[in-house]
Amino acid sequence: MLTEEKVRGILKELKDPFLHKSLEETNGIVEVKVKPEKNHVSVKIAIAQTGTGEQMQLQMEVVNRLKEGGADSVGIRFAELPKEVLDQFRGSMPQEEEADQGLLSPNSKTQFIAIASGKGGVGKSTVAVNFAIALARQGKRVGLVDADIYGFSVPDMMGILKRPVVRGEKIIPVDRFGVKVISMGFFVEDNAPVVWRGPMLGKMLNSFFNEVEWGELDYLVLDLPPGTGDVALDLHTMLPSSKEIIVTTPHPTAAFVAARAGAMAIKTEHEIIGVVENMSYFESKTTGEKEYVFGKGGGDKLAEELLTEVLGRLPLQQPDWSAEDFAPSVYAADHRLGKIYEQMALRVIEKLG
Ligand SMILES: Nc1ncnc2c1ncn2[C@@H]1O[C@H](COP(=O)(O)OP(=O)(O)OP(=O)(O)O)[C@@H](O)[C@H]1O
Ligand SMILES: [Mg+2]
Repeated sequence: MLTEEKVRGILKELKDPFLHKSLEETNGIVEVKVKPEKNHVSVKIAIAQTGTGEQMQLQMEVVNRLKEGGADSVGIRFAELPKEVLDQFRGSMPQEEEADQGLLSPNSKTQFIAIASGKGGVGKSTVAVNFAIALARQGKRVGLVDADIYGFSVPDMMGILKRPVVRGEKIIPVDRFGVKVISMGFFVEDNAPVVWRGPMLGKMLNSFFNEVEWGELDYLVLDLPPGTGDVALDLHTMLPSSKEIIVTTPHPTAAFVAARAGAMAIKTEHEIIGVVENMSYFESKTTGEKEYVFGKGGGDKLAEELLTEVLGRLPLQQPDWSAEDFAPSVYAADHRLGKIYEQMALRVIEKLG
């Protein structure tokens, strides 16, 4: 036989769908009546917002639990929590206008720039990281999404040791060299592999945009996984106005493969703003002579094919590593490659306004 006390015990763990606090904490169980002769329970529950889909879900949950607990029938009324209670918990409640403020909302002024390539290992992540940093060095507000969910590499490349903190329901991205970074690598333990099927991928990407507290951004740079797979497709549909930069090596065959990534961008109406030719040549420190180790002409060929320009040609060279602040793939501003990245950033800022 259910009693008022038992009913309160059954319901107290349920959470207010907006405040994400238990009904016990919010004093949300306003009234409980039990009619023993009919084994009928009626409850009045106060939550932050009534008349919503969330209320419907909670309603079903309440009915199920009480029936499991032994009630034959259940009656529920909903009310809104008093303002004092809402104020008390307001920190954890999403703002009403939030829907219009997100990165993906039509009001957003953020420019998305995806870094793509036809095949792996051509330097997308290196380019994404250094291009994002170069934009930040120009005083822009920049975010970087490591959209390579399976093969994330951005945290290691930038030497990020911190993990994002969670405030309320939002994830605060990690700030590194003035760039706000988010990566799947932050959410897996000990370099464990990520094994997810297609639909989860899209959800994860979506939460990178909607559940991360980006604040105002001028540019959001996305490091895509290689090729034209699921993630690239998801992003193409999620970010209809994204711009793209295609990275290739100078070999004509590489450019040919890269053209497929370009073709996909064109198909999904993503504007290609340029080509980056990476590993263009090797320059001898002693003689200054250039050697075209991976061939020549790939960047030009690709740019021509995609009706765009070559934004930069990056020679083969590693960054100078610093023991105090280890970021193995980041070129300093005065490094030869750092300066090329600076030129690329300036050109893109000029192009996109
Ligand atoms: N210009 C360069 N000079 C020397 N090494 C480079 C250069 N660009 C990239 N590399 C090196 O090449 C390797 C591949 O680069 P990176 O991880 O950026 O490629 P990617 O296209 O993102 O690869 P993946 O397809 O696996 O995501 C890395 O070890 C990186 O340090
Ligand atoms: Mg990569």
